[in-house]
Amino acid sequence: MRIVVTGGAGYIGGHTLIELLAGGHQILVIDDLSSGSLETLDAVRSISGRDFEFARGDIRDEGFLKRVLLEFRPDGVVHMAGLKSPIESMRAPLTYFDVNLTGSINLLSAMEQSGCYRMVFSSSATVYGEPIRLPFDEEHRTAPATPYGRTKLVVEGLIQDWVAATGAKAISLRYFNPIGAHSSGKIGDRPKGSAINLMPYIVAVAARQRDVLNVYGTDFETRDGSGERDYVHVCDVARAHVAALEALDQLSGHSVVNIGRGESTSVLELVKAFETATATTVPWRAAMRRPEDLPSAWADVTRAHTLLGWRAQLTIPEMCVDAWRFNAGRVDVD
Ligand code: WQD
Repeated sequence: MRIVVTGGAGYIGGHTLIELLAGGHQILVIDDLSSGSLETLDAVRSISGRDFEFARGDIRDEGFLKRVLLEFRPDGVVHMAGLKSPIESMRAPLTYFDVNLTGSINLLSAMEQSGCYRMVFSSSATVYGEPIRLPFDEEHRTAPATPYGRTKLVVEGLIQDWVAATGAKAISLRYFNPIGAHSSGKIGDRPKGSAINLMPYIVAVAARQRDVLNVYGTDFETRDGSGERDYVHVCDVARAHVAALEALDQLSGHSVVNIGRGESTSVLELVKAFETATATTVPWRAAMRRPEDLPSAWADVTRAHTLLGWRAQLTIPEMCVDAWRFNAGRVDVD
């Protein structure tokens, strides 16, 4: 198929390109390179041995989107472009709604104009907010606690209405915590700016680019007091996008699907697993909780298996080794 991937120069985008190219799809990447990079696109070409088209631009530029989609004529779109830091979104809600919502409206409008009615959307488990029950299943109440999570939920609703009005087919993937890197070590999570997720920080401390890991809260009601999350290898997440694209023909309407491993790992458990898997040490210290941080969050992944035939294959130690191989010796945090 001819597939447009918005945000394809990013962390999850780059890994998704590798899986799509391996499946023989023709790809156009749309990215403004505000967080993704040309280096990632070059690494994808090197890993996959295949080429693809790239259009640099902002999804808020409707004219740009309409032009490139009319020219490329996609059969489907994987929409990953957007701002993605919950903490940053609390400081800049207007920008988050502008990029994530306006950008999605423009994209759907450009898709209509080019006759494309199939979409896989990169959503997030943060749409759930405070858990009423765990694990989160897709019917759990949605009450996002940050502007970032709210933009993801609003775009899911926009897609729902667009599908109802046009007969389009769409799947929204609610990612839990993607970590790790492609086994080649050529692409991975190299965050820009201040909002750093846990695994890049663990790697920076192990590589002695940072002195110590701050554990944000060690007094939660969890197994060992630190926060618990559902970590899933970014390559498994990438494969979920291919499975979703392939499942679209058998589905009707809009489906939302959790993407995780269906189990939780605490911060301290991940630190221990990382030290064991990579034979490194990660000095840490207890620090204040972050605002809006949940004690625990993990996925019920039944629907991913029944609807997409997808299940995470890679393990926590593999995520640690792959993350370490990519970041070892790189400057990965400002
Ligand atoms: C994980 C755990 C922290 C850093 C976010 C987004 C989510 C998704 C993944 C986009 C928590 C703890 C972290 C550190 C720490 N992104 N931590 N020290 O907040 O679960 O999820 O990223 O879709 O939408 O919400 O990820 O990696 O920031 O935190 O103790 O230096 O690690 O408190 O318990 P989070 P995270």
